[in-house]
Formats: sequence, structure tokens, C-alpha cells
Amino acid sequence: MSIEKATLARPARVIVVGNEKGGSGKSTVAMHIAMALIKSGQSVATIDLDSRQRSFTHYIENRRAWARHVGRDLEIPNHTCFDPQVDYPTEEDETAGCQALSEAVDALAQSHSFIVIDTPGHDSDLMRRAHAMADTLITPLNDSFVDLDVLGTVDPETLGVTGTSHYAQMVEDARSQRQLLDGMTPDWIVLRNRLSTLGSRNKRLVGEGLQELSQRLNFRCIEGLAERVIFREFYPRGLTAVDELDEITLGTRPTMSHVTARLEIENLLGAMGLADAMASGDMMGQARDAA
Ligand SMILES: Nc1ncnc2c1ncn2[C@@H]1O[C@H](COP(=O)(O)OP(=O)(O)O)[C@@H](O)[C@H]1O
Ligand SMILES: [Mg+2]
Repeated sequence: MSIEKATLARPARVIVVGNEKGGSGKSTVAMHIAMALIKSGQSVATIDLDSRQRSFTHYIENRRAWARHVGRDLEIPNHTCFDPQVDYPTEEDETAGCQALSEAVDALAQSHSFIVIDTPGHDSDLMRRAHAMADTLITPLNDSFVDLDVLGTVDPETLGVTGTSHYAQMVEDARSQRQLLDGMTPDWIVLRNRLSTLGSRNKRLVGEGLQELSQRLNFRCIEGLAERVIFREFYPRGLTAVDELDEITLGTRPTMSHVTARLEIENLLGAMGLADAMASGDMMGQARDAA
């Protein structure tokens, strides 16, 4: 695949988590990908481009504080919150901000094998630049037609896809830019998030819409994460589904929900072509025993 080409161009893989919609799970997914890669021994740098909300940054700060609290040596990525409003406040400075982001990514790529970038849920030059740097783009998407709307429109009667939408267009532009730059087409994965564990008409119809769009827009769609309360509970302690399943680390007894959430993250890494980089099957066995 074209990823190898990009790896040659920049000695690290750049993973961008993006969707022009807030609340789709970008920061949650970015943190999980970063931690899963660190757990597998990779050196990971992380960048938060959502300098207003800073959820990714707070997630990592919470992890640092929790590690101190429980006296555990929890791994922390090399993190930067990129704040153009402070360093590049005027419109003329925006281009300089984009250039600074490229330089920061190039510098981090010299000493890390992966760079995970979380993005805000709105369009900007910086966001476009990040998308154009992606070797892998992950778009978490809540399982609803309201959320699918950022990718495509549907016919109200048949629910068949009638056109493509603004975020899809932005990704298309970013991919064309990238193609011109180094001939690489980033791998685009749409990750269905907060899926109901029960079958439903909505789930099926959204799935069909995504299937159709995936062909039009050239992305891969994966059944990602189910709706799980633990994904919300992790944040204040900075934990993830790939952390040690012991009571001291978690601050609570591990459950089957931890185990299934970890499996979902493992599947995601597998879909990204990083299965070997994830925890071994043996570790999954231990996780099940712990629960
Ligand atoms: N699979 C999931 N199950 C349950 N809650 C989730 C899941 N994924 C994300 N969330 C919750 O959804 C909300 C939005 O997630 P977040 O990662 O902040 O999205 P974004 O960065 O796209 O705005 C948060 O409350 C988060 O805890
Ligand atoms: Mg976010």
C-alpha cells in the first residue's frame, strides 16, 4: 500500500483523527490509538490541535496525575498542544501556523515512530494542513444520519446516498494535495462509534449508507466501538482500555466491559495494519482472567 511510500518520505507514520463534527469520539480514539501503540513498545508523539477544548491534552494530564495518585508508572506520550491563537493570532499568521505545524511534525518524526494528531470539529487552514499530512486518517462517526451528514446526503424516502458533503470534500482536497506532493493517497478509515450492541433498523440503514459512501469516497468503514460507559469513565483518570487490568491501576475492579473494549481497540489497530504492534493474544487471555 501507499503507506510505505510515505514512511520513506517521513520516518514516522502520521495518524490523524478527524471529523468536522464535535462529540464523535475523536479525542477518545486518539488517546486509545496512542496508548495502544505505546503499550506495544512504539515511541509515540501526540499533538492536540483542538487548542480550545484541549480534551486530548487534559486526558494526558489526567493520566499523569492519576499515575502519581496510585503510584504506578503509567506511560505518557510525548505531547504537544499546538495553540495557533497564542503563537499565530492574526489571519496573515495562519500560513505561518501551518508551516510551524509541518515543521513540528517533521522534527517529531525524527525521534518517534508514530505521531497521533487530534483535530477540532471545525474547518480551518491548520486542520486542512493536518489532514494533508496524514498517512492514516481515522474518522470516528456516531451511528446516526445526523452524523453521516458530514460525509454525504441521503434521499429522505429511499435513504439512498444522493451526494457528498463538506467534510468529505475537505478530505478529498487534502488527499489531492498529498497526491501532488508525494504521490501518496492516505488510507482513510471511517470508524463507527457508539454502536448499539443490539441490532436496529437505524444501525442497518446507517451501515448501508456508509457502505455506499465508502465506494464513492474511497474510504474503508469498520465496525468500531460500541456504546460503553467505561469509555466515559476512563477520562478523569486518563486511563484507556489497553491499560493493565488490575484494581490499583483502574481504581475499580476490572469487568468484561474492559476486556471487550480492549478487543475493539485491538481490532482497530488490526484494521490500520498495526495488528503486530498490539498486545498479544496471550495478553488478551490474561485480561479475561483478570476480569
Ligand atoms: N464508544 C463510546 N462509548 C461511550 N461513550 C463514548 C464513546 N466514545 C466517545 N464517548 C463519549 O462521547 C463524548 C465525546 O467524545 P470525544 O472523544 O470528546 O469526542 P470529540 O473529540 O470528537 O469531540 C465523550 O463524553 C466521550 O466520553
Ligand atoms: Mg475532541
